[in-house]
Amino acid sequence: MAKLLGIDIGTSGCKLLLINEKGNILKQASREYPLLVPHPMWSEQNPEDWWTAVQSCIAEIGEANIDAIGVTGQMHGSVFLDEEGEVIRPALLWNDQRTVAECAEIERVIGSDRLKEITCNPALTGFQLPKILWLRNHEPENYKRLRTVLLPKDYIRFKLTGEFASDVSDASGTGIFNVAERRWSKEMLRDLSLSENFFPRVYESDEVTGHNSDGVPVVGGGGDQAAAAVGTGAVSPGIISVSLGTSGVVFTSIPECAYNAKGASHTFCHANRGWHAMGVMLSCGGALRWYRDTFGAGRSYDQISASASSIQAGSDGLTFLPYLTGERCPHNDPYAKAVFAGATLGHTLGHFDRAVFEGLTFGLFEGFQLLKELGAKSEQVRVTSGGSKSDFWMQMLADVFDVKCQGLVVDEGPAMGAAILAGVGIGLWVNVEEACKELIKADREFVPSGIDYSVSYKNFQELYVKTLGWGSNRVD
Ligand code: XUL
Repeated sequence: MAKLLGIDIGTSGCKLLLINEKGNILKQASREYPLLVPHPMWSEQNPEDWWTAVQSCIAEIGEANIDAIGVTGQMHGSVFLDEEGEVIRPALLWNDQRTVAECAEIERVIGSDRLKEITCNPALTGFQLPKILWLRNHEPENYKRLRTVLLPKDYIRFKLTGEFASDVSDASGTGIFNVAERRWSKEMLRDLSLSENFFPRVYESDEVTGHNSDGVPVVGGGGDQAAAAVGTGAVSPGIISVSLGTSGVVFTSIPECAYNAKGASHTFCHANRGWHAMGVMLSCGGALRWYRDTFGAGRSYDQISASASSIQAGSDGLTFLPYLTGERCPHNDPYAKAVFAGATLGHTLGHFDRAVFEGLTFGLFEGFQLLKELGAKSEQVRVTSGGSKSDFWMQMLADVFDVKCQGLVVDEGPAMGAAILAGVGIGLWVNVEEACKELIKADREFVPSGIDYSVSYKNFQELYVKTLGWGSNRVD
């Protein structure tokens, strides 16, 4: 039976997953690596740390007979390489907010509407393109040495195969990719005076891009969100996936390349040769972790959920905005701040606990609404990542979204999707949809209980508008 390896270059660490063609997990390994914050709102990592971690996981898995490899990872980051393929400086990551001026430069040179027509998205601080301009504007010596820019997972592909290559889903998140036509935008390269040679060759997610030193094919793979969606089966319209990870993502496959005219959600190429739309909240599980570490008073996630569940829906008017690292969807506001509002003497710690879960869920619901505006059908929501382990949160999602929410039998995130893409790449299935139909199964199910969150949701939406002025309280 074929053995497929999925490699996921996450933000806190990497995960390698070896499965067989029945989707059974044979082995897995993971390693952490440091996150560098050399300045407030900056976020960097050393690509060499990713590679060291991957090599160590490969050694731990110790499997000689792998049939295909798929790569995935945190999207949008910039790995800057010189003539020799050496890393020039630490990579700027997806949650780095230093490029506000470069985003304005892109919008000015390209024009906002034209930019959305080409890339289906506005210029966003997290994306790769403004990071390249930042290097040109702030580190000209490094920029002079620049020959190739890779996305995080594609650096690992390069170390495995020696090839500079990417896949359409991850390339879509650079901000210089023509998403409808699935190619780099020559017109934007020209207008921004960037060399086309900086960018790797782009493949579909299930195409073979090269081979490792043992001759094992390495497929295109995908950005972590597209790969995670393969792992949840969100590859056909009607299935929406919600990821409750560090960031929070609401995701759907869309039959045609449609985008939000205001740039409030993202449209990217999907790993199934179609397109997908998604709303990304920068702080979701990350906000919950911050809350536990800051105000949790030594309590575990389970204890915080149990305390939250003892409070009535709506937290008696206490509202939480989760914008601890700015926000991307729907606000595209790197300066947005987190807020607790509406506290009275009657509020207890339990109300704060519940308000956090509600704020996170309302933020996800805003993303869900944006996808519906693009025509997404929401027959089922499949919930994945750490937060999906909480029955309390799953029930709240079902109630706020007013739709059935399911948990998965095997929830291994993007690494699973990457391994499945590897299998499609060597012809084990005719396409990604068929692979998912065969392998992905849901078990736990939460149905809406009729609780009405409409007033609390309205308060949540209005609170962002009321606190917008705090954006001037900048740390950059
Ligand atoms: C997606 C996004 C994050 C990162 C890190 O657009 O920014 O999901 O890929 O996981």
